[in-house]
Amino acid sequence: MTELIWEGKYDKDGKKVAPLHVALPFQTVETINESTKERQLAQDLFTTGRDPQWRNRLIWGDKKYVLPSLLEEFAGKVDLIYIDPPFATGQNFSFNMRVDGEEFTKEPSIIEQKAYRDTWGRGLDSYLQWFSEAVIFLQELLSERGSIFVHLDCNIGPYAKAAMDELFSRTFQTQVVWQRVTAHSDSRRFGINYDLILHYSKAPDFTWIVRHVAHSEDYVESHYTQVNEEGRKFRWDNATAAGSGPARYFFGKLLEPPPGTHWRWSQERIDDLGASGRIALTSKGKPQYKRFLDEMPGKVIQAVWTDIAPVNSQALEDTGFDTQKPEALLERIIKASSNEGDLVLDCFVGSGTTAVVAAKLNRRWIACDLGRFAIHTTRKRLLGPLNVKPFVVQNLGKYERQLWQKAEFDLGTDLTREDLTLNPFPTWKGTSGSPSHSGKGPGIRSDTPASPSHPGKGPGVRSADLRYRHFILELYHAQSVSGYVWLHGVKAGRMVHVGAVDAPISPGDVSQIAAEFKRAVGTGKDAPITNGVDVLGWDFAFELNEVSKQQAAQANINMRFVRIPREVLEKKAVEQGDIRFFELAALSVDMAQKGRVITLKLTDFVIPPDDVPEDVRKAITHWEQWIDYWAVDWNNRSDTFHNEWQDYRTRQKRDLQKQVAHTYEQPGQYIIVVKVIDILGNDTTKTLKVTVV
Ligand SMILES: C[S@@+](CC[C@H](N)C(=O)[O-])C[C@H]1O[C@@H](n2cnc3c(N)ncnc32)[C@H](O)[C@@H]1O
Repeated sequence: MTELIWEGKYDKDGKKVAPLHVALPFQTVETINESTKERQLAQDLFTTGRDPQWRNRLIWGDKKYVLPSLLEEFAGKVDLIYIDPPFATGQNFSFNMRVDGEEFTKEPSIIEQKAYRDTWGRGLDSYLQWFSEAVIFLQELLSERGSIFVHLDCNIGPYAKAAMDELFSRTFQTQVVWQRVTAHSDSRRFGINYDLILHYSKAPDFTWIVRHVAHSEDYVESHYTQVNEEGRKFRWDNATAAGSGPARYFFGKLLEPPPGTHWRWSQERIDDLGASGRIALTSKGKPQYKRFLDEMPGKVIQAVWTDIAPVNSQALEDTGFDTQKPEALLERIIKASSNEGDLVLDCFVGSGTTAVVAAKLNRRWIACDLGRFAIHTTRKRLLGPLNVKPFVVQNLGKYERQLWQKAEFDLGTDLTREDLTLNPFPTWKGTSGSPSHSGKGPGIRSDTPASPSHPGKGPGVRSADLRYRHFILELYHAQSVSGYVWLHGVKAGRMVHVGAVDAPISPGDVSQIAAEFKRAVGTGKDAPITNGVDVLGWDFAFELNEVSKQQAAQANINMRFVRIPREVLEKKAVEQGDIRFFELAALSVDMAQKGRVITLKLTDFVIPPDDVPEDVRKAITHWEQWIDYWAVDWNNRSDTFHNEWQDYRTRQKRDLQKQVAHTYEQPGQYIIVVKVIDILGNDTTKTLKVTVV
């Protein structure tokens, strides 16, 4: 067999390099559009251990983790896959955001740059490896009657086809040529104005629903030249079809069909058609059929599509996402190759086109993207006038971090680095030696990890924990301290707590940190001489709001909550030393109560300045401009955030409502969670408690 070889396809022993096979559980962080009744039912099903109802899924994560993790539940169950992977070498993850009508570009995050390097780092070789790894999983996910459509350009398309032919052997169906723009100004060659869409099926027998488009005006004019007395356009058409058949009577005359053909209809039908004037004989006595234009479904759709325009900036569907594809394109694909209720998957969903069209056409869907902004854009699009069925937003959050922690700091366990291929940190040093904490509190002792230069050979969980904390402290430019349970380091006179990878920082943690801090203060020479604590966490519980801050203030502690960035998981980013920690944004909400009516009003929102591009910061004159979206869960029951109400900006609607009221039907104590998503796509939550009588 002819085979396309690229560097990296085979290892040094001549074995094909297999993709990373991990199965991480998904973590639901948000449930959208679920009614109170559905929410109760979902909770009941959960508590009784029964299967929850189907929820469409929007997953934030890299396809290299998401696709293998979907296998356990969905291998052989996905009916249709459309992917539009990043295929232009110049394409990156930057996105455009708007502040008062002005557009700004946000450069890609380190994680996004990393994904881009994974994809194109070594040019076509790495792209093909990256692409094939995705296709291997997608093929496993496809159902027996399923199809996959892969959207590419003419540079990468032929290579991708060769790679896919190898995986799909004989089920290549067609290559659609989509005329993307009418003209492309190429002065030295014919303009490249099209994309390619490769269609493969899992097996030779696949779901296919023949689709038609209206005939062109030219065609109608040249073919349907006659008009009947009612004004209906028609043409005289052939009465035979291929394959021989018997003679039949037409108006009392027995006529043989021409050799190799047969009359299209039974004798009975011919008699009926003759009586209703739908069959007539020509002057030479040849039967003809009267075909009306309005009875014809149109032309069967072929593989060259010139009738679907790209999304233009004035279109209602335009989200401002650079590579957004038109809904009409997805509609054509989904309608031709799936039925209502079928499951559609797109692991590069971008602005959400596949999910939106699948939802409109009553298909179930799973959509994934690595870009934070892509997930946010898709979420907003699904919320619009569509009012789609409930869906959940998921990520691999703590599971991805647990995997990383095990791989990096706890290799004595059943997982190996090869299993995980989450790269070790060869330059990892730990905080060995004697950190100089000159004058930063005499009692703060340095703590040396067990064997810092061999993080993989750690003796046990405790020292694995220690190594993990040292690693984070080092990235935070803090020194380790020992002798405390909740206080792990010191930086510029402030104590530092490092949160665990698998649990959010909770108010309980905050009290413990505060209590230990208080115990330590004033206990003589061992006391920290600082009143500040930086609490570093991957996640922060909803409830971590004023209560925690109050707790800290009462204890006379200046507590700062700082997010550990996901970049920490990436070897390259760590090596480059470009890890930046940001304080949590702060949201102020006023709550007013009148009987059972609660009114919430946003009153302030402060975003850590370091995270914001300079030009954007300059353009912002009022705190409201930071907010792109906000939502409220009026009755949070320690389940995920349910957005029971939301308001957001779109390209058409730039205003944001800042106040909302809600009437509780039943008396009781309620927890209200407010979620704000800023213009950079980050979210901040705040919890309020209310008693309704
Ligand atoms: C060409 S765009 C898709 C556009 C989409 N079809 C639409 O209509 O908006 C490609 C998307 O792939 C995402 N992406 C790139 N690498 C990824 C990866 N490794 N895992 C998941 N998504 C990725 C990018 O964030 C981007 O949103």
